[in-house]
Amino acid sequence: MGDNPPPFCNEVLRKTMKILLAPMEGVVDWYMRDLLTRIGGYDACVTEFVRVVDKCLPEKAYRRLCPELGTAAKTAAGTPVVVQLLGGEAAVMAENAALAAALGAAGIDLNFGCPSKVVNRNGGGAVLLKEPERIQQIVAAVRTAVPAPVPVTAKIRLGFDHADDALAIARAVERAGASAIVVHARTRADGYKAPARWQMLRPIREALTIPVIANGDINSVEDYRRCLAISGCDDVMIGRGAVGCPDLARQIRRYQGGQPCQPLAWAEVAPLVVGLAQQMNRTIEDKLVLGRIKQWLVMLKKVYPQAQRCFDQGRRLPTLAQMTALLGQHE
Ligand SMILES: Cc1cc2nc3c(=O)[nH]c(=O)nc-3n(C[C@H](O)[C@H](O)[C@H](O)COP(=O)(O)O)c2cc1C
Repeated sequence: MGDNPPPFCNEVLRKTMKILLAPMEGVVDWYMRDLLTRIGGYDACVTEFVRVVDKCLPEKAYRRLCPELGTAAKTAAGTPVVVQLLGGEAAVMAENAALAAALGAAGIDLNFGCPSKVVNRNGGGAVLLKEPERIQQIVAAVRTAVPAPVPVTAKIRLGFDHADDALAIARAVERAGASAIVVHARTRADGYKAPARWQMLRPIREALTIPVIANGDINSVEDYRRCLAISGCDDVMIGRGAVGCPDLARQIRRYQGGQPCQPLAWAEVAPLVVGLAQQMNRTIEDKLVLGRIKQWLVMLKKVYPQAQRCFDQGRRLPTLAQMTALLGQHE
């Protein structure tokens, strides 16, 4: 590492009203980060989780999941990219975090929210919410292993099967030296059931001195406004809403500046979908890209009924070329 702090340093983290692009495995990869951060409004994004089990992963595993490590850990639009790790063993998490930081990651985020049964059975993700002291050990070990200018953050849910310990978990993260905490306002038992419990974030926000970043169900500018008012948080992380409404962060920025904010028209979004397909198809086989395009159409349909129509007409199309042609007709 050189002498200069990385682009997403602790100073950046302390700036208010941040909007972060959430990690989403199988959805928010390099291509989607590139596309969404070009549209703008995001202060940082987080990679899909790197699963750490019992050893330090090879450098190539990090470069595969976070190609931005080759471009100073920034997307083409200049947005910093934080690497997320998932695992339950403090020492091996610390070793991996040190490597990711040495490769230039803009920050290290620790995943304590993943609800996957397989992951939880192996001692990672949300199951750790049952043991705040282990979370503290992991965060502290990672903090010690990573150079001071590189932020270490944690992403939690409110708890595993109840939310009674949400504050204790958040305090454990703070005590361990984290720079900020993201709280997905649901327990693991809540799954993705709406609505997210933004009111549960307020006592955490009031008790902690580090930034508490609100996450869950921010799908519109109005949701953003309500989430801030209810949670008391200044900063947010957006996942599904960011993919379902590709200019949501930019709309929020306009709202903050007192400017009118309308979602992009479908005629502007359809070419983005085609563009993503073409970009991905340079290195990824047709079938996988086709699956990703269908997945994106499903996520877009809440805001764009045209996406639903495209999905319905295109779901049985066997080739990517046919799908992109269909999207072209719908522009
Ligand atoms: C398909 C999918 C993949 C996800 N992958 C991750 C992940 O890799 N790491 C993580 O911390 N959270 C992951 N999440 C959770 C999101 O980051 C976020 O906390 C959750 O979706 C709630 O926020 P939202 O309502 O803005 O989407 C994932 C969620 C979804 C739906």
